[in-house]
Formats: sequence, C-alpha cells, structure tokens
Amino acid sequence: MESLRGRRVVLGVTGSIAAYKAPLFLRELQRQGAEVRVVVSEAALHFVAEAALTAFAPVVSRVFPPGLPGSWHVEWARWAEVMLIAPCSATTLGKLVCGIADTAPTLLACSLPKTTPLVLAPAMDTELWERPAVQRAVEQLRREGVWIIPPAFGELASGAVGLGRLPEVEAILSTVEGALTTGVLSAARQQLWSGRHVLVTAGPTREPVDALRYLSNHSTGRMGYALAEACRDRGASVVLISGPAAVPPPPGIVVEQVETAEHMLAAVLRYREWADVIIAAAAVADYTPAETWPGKLKRGSHDLLLRLRPTEDILATLGAHRRAGQLLVGFALEAEAEWAAAEQKRQRKGVDLLVLNSLRWGSIGRPDNTIALFLPDGRIRMFPPRSKRVCAEWIVDALEELLSGNGP
Ligand code: CTP
Repeated sequence: MESLRGRRVVLGVTGSIAAYKAPLFLRELQRQGAEVRVVVSEAALHFVAEAALTAFAPVVSRVFPPGLPGSWHVEWARWAEVMLIAPCSATTLGKLVCGIADTAPTLLACSLPKTTPLVLAPAMDTELWERPAVQRAVEQLRREGVWIIPPAFGELASGAVGLGRLPEVEAILSTVEGALTTGVLSAARQQLWSGRHVLVTAGPTREPVDALRYLSNHSTGRMGYALAEACRDRGASVVLISGPAAVPPPPGIVVEQVETAEHMLAAVLRYREWADVIIAAAAVADYTPAETWPGKLKRGSHDLLLRLRPTEDILATLGAHRRAGQLLVGFALEAEAEWAAAEQKRQRKGVDLLVLNSLRWGSIGRPDNTIALFLPDGRIRMFPPRSKRVCAEWIVDALEELLSGNGP
C-alpha cells in the first residue's frame, strides 16, 4: 500500500553529512505515493549534488532563487501538508528556534501555516547532539508542537559509535505519517504524555522444539513498533519488549529483545510497576513445547508427537494485578462472531481498551490494517483500512481520551 498516496510533502535538506542520503529519502517518499518538493541549504550542497535532487522533484536551494518570485516560500508553505527536514543540522535547529530564515529550508519552515506539521530528523555527531544549546533548542521546538525524531545510535561519519545517526527511512516516514494524521501537537496534548511511562510488547515469540527449531507465527511486530513510535512522538518514555521482529529497533525507545513467551512475561513483570500505560500488541504463543530436545532432534521413521503446554496469558496476568491508574490495552484476533468475542475478551482479561482485528477483514499479512476499538463504556469505534502507523495514531488518540479523563 502507498501510505502517503497523494500527500504533499516538502523535504528540507540541511548541512549534515547524512544529506548524502536525501535522494533516497526523496525517492522513498515518492514510492509511497507522495508529491514532493525539495528545499536544500547551501551547506547541504557540500554533501549532496543538486542534480541528484532536481532529477526527481522541483528544488529550491536559495532564499532568492533565480526564476521564482520573491514570495515563492509563501506559495510552497501553503502547498505543503507536512514539511520534513531530514537531516536537520544543529545550526538549523538553532535557527528554527530563533526564527532565523536565511536558508531555503529555514525560510520555508518559518513560513508554514500554524496548522501545518513540521517534522525534524536531527543528525549530527554525538558531542554536538548532547550540547546543552542543541538540547534546549530541541525541547523548545517540541513544546511548540514540532515533531522531532530522535537520532539513532550507531556508526557516525567520524568513525565513532554513538547517538546521532540519521534513522532508517522507515522510522522517519512513520513519524511523517503520524504528523499527517494527527497534525501539530497542542501543548495540552503534550502535557498529557510528558513524564508518562509506556510499555509496549510486540512481535512473535519463538518456542524452542530443539536447539535449532522453534514454533512461531507470522507477526512482523510492525503494529507494536508503530504504537511505540506514536507514544514516543507524543512525548512519552517508551520501553518496547519485542520478540524477533522484522523491523529495525526504533530510535529514542528502550528495546528489550526476547525470544519465548516465558522471557516476555519475565521482562514485562520487571516493568509492570514502572508503566502508566501497557500496550500488549505481541502475538504471544499460546502453547510451548512441554520439553525441549537437547541438541538436534533426529529424523525417524515413526510419527513424532510434540506435547505442548499452555503459556501464561501475559495480558490477563497484567489485568488481574493492576496498580491504580494504570491503563491496559490489549489486542484480539478473532475469526468469527468477532464483536461479541472481542467484548468478552476485553472484560475477561481486565483490559481498558481492546483493539479488534478480524480474520474476515483480510488485513493479515498486509502492510495496512483494519481495526475496531472497544472502549471501557461499551462503545465500539470502527476504522477504515489504513497503514499500521495511522491505526496507531487512532489507538493513541483513544488512550489520550482515557488519560485526560474525558474519556469514553
Ligand atoms: N496474549 C498474552 N499472552 C499470551 C497470549 C496472548 O499477553 N500468552 C495477549 C496478546 O498480546 C494480545 C491478546 O492477548 O494482546 C491476544 O489475544 P488473542 O490471541 O486474540 O486471544 P487468546 O487469549 O490467545 O485467545 P484465543 O486465541 O482463544 O482467542
């Protein structure tokens, strides 16, 4: 599915070495169906050739571009549904916080209507990222409703390993989708999330049969990862406990990798007191082999009987021993009579918000998802098929209502 089909995106590119990746970002935005225009600073042109951008999209690289009227930025700012600056340099962060508009990207960002979201993906060396001036700028911009994707940990241009890498394109486009769905984050919404602890489980588990084989399922982890990113982007502190997933760990989130249902339970229990909100999106195995063969199970000529025992239901355990004020979100995958089954599951497992996914809605194994939300007062909200990140925004919106006490 093209998750950005028909959306109008301005891509800003500024003077960080990661600017060399800009043509890839531009192509990926277009592959997702977005219409893209590009604004690039002169500093960025040290790291990326202008022709590598003009080959694919309209590009402005000067505040007074030859051939365009002086008010080009007003027209471009009105055209944009979202602006993404990736990479965003330390200098650009500083300029944006002060309203200095002396490059094409900063001029455009400063010209955006108040309702148009701005998404920044800072990328720089660790020392620079950790400077108090840079952190102050980031905090101030966040308070103003700017979406900021934390840099990733990894190898940097200097050869050092640390925080400051431009995240993978998948993580960046996920936040762009979040910003397009939710818009500029108001101060009230940010206050709701700031200081909140969110625990998310995601992905499949693997239950060992012998030293080489396991029982598992097709979960990719994408839904849980999108939820973790959505909560992070609203300002929460997020811990993600993940089975072996098909997606890279999102930046700005503490990720604990686990294998089995038992490991997942143990990890969840360690964070149970810490968490204000727990979202159980993992596809945990319901059964595990009663014994694991040591070494390799050899081929034989007789039937092989594998005895399974049920795993502990992590969600139900959490629902049964909950600390006051803690919110619990569960998932249900149903094959038939899904409406009644989902509400029963919500009550039986002691869950506040239940996300229903039906086998009959045909979204299993597809990048998009179809969900219905079961709210604590018995109301149900049904949504059209959309990408997992858009579904995550809707789930987090419902959580916001519950957290603010205006809730359903
Ligand atoms: N879950 C869990 N621990 C398990 C199994 C499931 O925490 N051992 C959680 C999942 O993370 C998810 C919800 O329970 O939030 C999914 O439940 P689902 O698989 O739909 O239902 P089950 O409880 O497994 O019941 P059934 O398969 O009989 O419908």
